[in-house]
Amino acid sequence: MELPLAEAWKIKMVEPIRCSTRAERERWIEQAHYNLFQLPADQVYIDCLTDSGTGAMSDRQWAAMMTGDESYAGSRSFYELRDVITRLTGFKYVIPTHQGRAAENVLFSHLVKEGDVVPGNSHFDTTKGHIESRKATALDCTVAEARDTQLELPFKGNVDIKLLEEALRKHGDRVSFVIVTITNNTAGGQPVSMENLRQVSRLCRGYGKGLILDSARFAENAYFIKTREEGYADKSIKEITREMFSYADGMTMSAKKDGLVNMGGFIATNREDWYEGAKRFCIPFEGYLTYGGMNGRDMAALAVGLDENTEYDNLATRIRQVQLLGSLLDEYGVPYQRPAGGHAIFVDASKVLTQVPKEEFPAQTLAVELYKEAGVRGCEIGYILADRDPVTRENRFGGLDLLRLCIPRRVYTDNHIAVIAAALKNVFDRRNEITRGYEITWETELMRHFTVQLKPLQ
Ligand code: F0G
Repeated sequence: MELPLAEAWKIKMVEPIRCSTRAERERWIEQAHYNLFQLPADQVYIDCLTDSGTGAMSDRQWAAMMTGDESYAGSRSFYELRDVITRLTGFKYVIPTHQGRAAENVLFSHLVKEGDVVPGNSHFDTTKGHIESRKATALDCTVAEARDTQLELPFKGNVDIKLLEEALRKHGDRVSFVIVTITNNTAGGQPVSMENLRQVSRLCRGYGKGLILDSARFAENAYFIKTREEGYADKSIKEITREMFSYADGMTMSAKKDGLVNMGGFIATNREDWYEGAKRFCIPFEGYLTYGGMNGRDMAALAVGLDENTEYDNLATRIRQVQLLGSLLDEYGVPYQRPAGGHAIFVDASKVLTQVPKEEFPAQTLAVELYKEAGVRGCEIGYILADRDPVTRENRFGGLDLLRLCIPRRVYTDNHIAVIAAALKNVFDRRNEITRGYEITWETELMRHFTVQLKPLQ
């Protein structure tokens, strides 16, 4: 008999969690104005809000924290971190930042100016925010297949090469750089193939444009290349990682995901002009160049985390758990963005709550139902998150309306996954009884999903 693939670690410390009653949850979610971000975490049983900063560190990482060097300038922990990053990516200049969006802020302060165009594949919200707040345009060139949740393709995170070439031709000098997000979070944690990176890189070089990888989940992307792309099965994750970055000029990184730490980020590049430009903004925004927003001990833990998470066993068991959730949902008939992504399952709410009109936010409705069912907290990646059109002030209903269920790294067991799936099945089985959603009673102009207040419609 073939042995099953078990976790590449065992558990040394645990954190108790408590399951609440339905009556308690109904009261709590009302108090939170039906916004899951507003719930105290103690009112959540299984937290799938995000995989960002929610992972468990290893004993080696905790040990590294004890030997972190807190020197203001020239910290040994910085050099350790820089050396690991250079080994994994080939980039020699490294600027630490307090998280991913801070890396974007520092680098884009140097690279993006009013009127610029930045093509990419489904820019993450903060990436888009840092482009748009500089009065530039984030142009989405993701392959069209990503919008059909039921299509089963290996690399749905890819850039549409034709669209990118058109953009480069049309916008010429206005294009400041191209950014490719690996994996593509917004499209469902879907990977980008090595072939696609190679093609994007070739185009960028042809047009004299720099290429940045938004690398929050680069190791998971490398895992998918190894397991899905021809020619990579026998290569190590570290070899694949090195090749992925060889096609780029630089990277922004949220270390809270594939860095296996709870806070942190960085910029890395081989371009001296980018490094010099970014340095000028790092010091006032983040801090001096050898800590830039991170404690010495946190840089030490990150150096270990990056090394651990670019090992095959760690990634294989992590992604297997996401795929386990996917296969249970297959069994129950619940539709989600196919195939299962690297960090999360994105349930296609518009295919589940077919009776709830889009004006009443089906994905948010599903998120609240799942919370009430079992205390499982997911996150709406849909019409509320999409904000209003800045000109017409109408809600934007053009994209997908998804419920994202993120799986934190090394945190939950397969039994927790079974609970998430069963809870969703229960909601799914009574989907036709759910006919009404929510109305917004209070919202902010930008990024409203964090603070929006809602009222159930009867
Ligand atoms: N890029 C991607 C692809 C991300 O997913 C995130 C964060 C960031 C950049 C920003 O990094 O949070 O460290 O400032 N994603 C989290 C999420 C918040 O829940 O998907 P950060």
